[in-house]
Amino acid sequence: MAREQWNSQIGFVLAAVGSAVGLGNIWRFSYMTYKHGGGAFLIPYLIALFTVGIPLLILEFAIGHERIGSAPLAFTKINKKWEWLGWWSVTFVMFGIVLYYISIISWCLNYFIKSFSLAWGNDPNSYFFNQFLAVSKSPFELKGIVTPVFTGVAFIWFINWAIVYRGVKKGLELANKIFMPLLLVLTVILVFWSLTLKGAGAGIKAYLTPDFTMLAKPKIWIDAFSQIFFTLSLGFGIMIAYASYLPEKANLTRGAYFTALINSGYSIFAGFAVFAVLGFMAASQGQEISKVVSESIGLAFVAYPKALSIMPGGNIFGAVFFLCLVVAGVSSSISIVESFTSAVVDKFGIRRKTFVTILCILGFIGSIIFTTNAGLFWLDIADHFITHYGLLIVAIGECLLVGWLFNIKIIRQHINKISSIKVGAGWEFFIKVFTPAVLLGLLTLDFYNELSKPYGNYSWTAVVLIGILWLLINLVIAFILAARPWKTQNHKAKCRGEILE
Ligand code: ALA
Repeated sequence: MAREQWNSQIGFVLAAVGSAVGLGNIWRFSYMTYKHGGGAFLIPYLIALFTVGIPLLILEFAIGHERIGSAPLAFTKINKKWEWLGWWSVTFVMFGIVLYYISIISWCLNYFIKSFSLAWGNDPNSYFFNQFLAVSKSPFELKGIVTPVFTGVAFIWFINWAIVYRGVKKGLELANKIFMPLLLVLTVILVFWSLTLKGAGAGIKAYLTPDFTMLAKPKIWIDAFSQIFFTLSLGFGIMIAYASYLPEKANLTRGAYFTALINSGYSIFAGFAVFAVLGFMAASQGQEISKVVSESIGLAFVAYPKALSIMPGGNIFGAVFFLCLVVAGVSSSISIVESFTSAVVDKFGIRRKTFVTILCILGFIGSIIFTTNAGLFWLDIADHFITHYGLLIVAIGECLLVGWLFNIKIIRQHINKISSIKVGAGWEFFIKVFTPAVLLGLLTLDFYNELSKPYGNYSWTAVVLIGILWLLINLVIAFILAARPWKTQNHKAKCRGEILE
């Protein structure tokens, strides 16, 4: 069967941007920026974007396009022994990230509805943790299912199914052609509205003024690099699969620059709305910005609602804000479902529609744990380990595979043959040496910190069972999938750059 294709290069870029722009840009980016002293975070963030993010995005686009395959197929066509790495990335993303990601979209959906009546009352903190999520005392005290979160999760999975089921052009491309402009309009409204609030200026100042002393802390660097991975959907296998749906002639580097710059531009732009609102809140309470929020993960669900309650028209502002999160979230979650679907269809030749249905049902079942009263703990631990270790290890593997176990010149020539912005020996150096070295350094540092005390002060049992074991189980699944025989002939098909070898 012929490989599906995007209708246009714009459709591809919109889909890649749709995948990149997600909860990470608003929810994660703003709490990371807040946690690391506002503007200071932007420095390592931008350094990470240009030194690692963009070179790797170009690499992932090029691998998918040149090898014509989803991550496992593309990797196996580079070196048969490395198929597992492709499977590992699409597996921990599908049976890890997206499971909790959808539960956060469900929180946003609930908060979208709650905004109209400002349901959180005077104490959004207690409302979020004690009433809405009714968080239990420890990760293993699951207690029960939080019905509104569960219902939202079911609905969001249904939407994901309905889009991915329709395929690349009629599903993903069409959805992003609607979602992306909608998201832009909603965000513009938010930013401009927020700038009119009293105290907004002080918020923006806190956002843009770097506290250089923060840069001495290794944590800010670790968080900035893992944020870049998360936000650009690197190591997810998505960008590889998306690029494999491009026609023969495709401008890969331009696509990568557009995707990366629009994505980070969006984060920074949306950050104005977040910080202007924090400034407004600080002004209304006569406090410093650094004092108005205490809980980082709950920034969107605690600090924001607090501000909405006292803001003129706060209910509409809140609805727009949470709708933004839902739209951004869904455009990313569909890309994750697609990345796994594409891998399975490539290898096992299963009918896409049948598989997507099964996968979404499995995904929904997997998400249930995150809808329990201990869901927040599970999400926090799983997110930490998958994004800090899984994504980075996959990226290091990609660099080693293409840079050292393969002739990287084939990929570089392929990029330059069809793209307007050429990549030179510098890019090769980044992929072969710089990126893996930096990532390895960060990984080691992170791991070293990890050993001194369990992440987030959870028990070691929780950290090992939920965080580390989660990644390892997915690794085992990846090896099993890689060991299965190919049911299609895709792995024997020609690659686009082979003539140049
Ligand atoms: N790239 C997606 C996000 O930032 C996963 O949310």
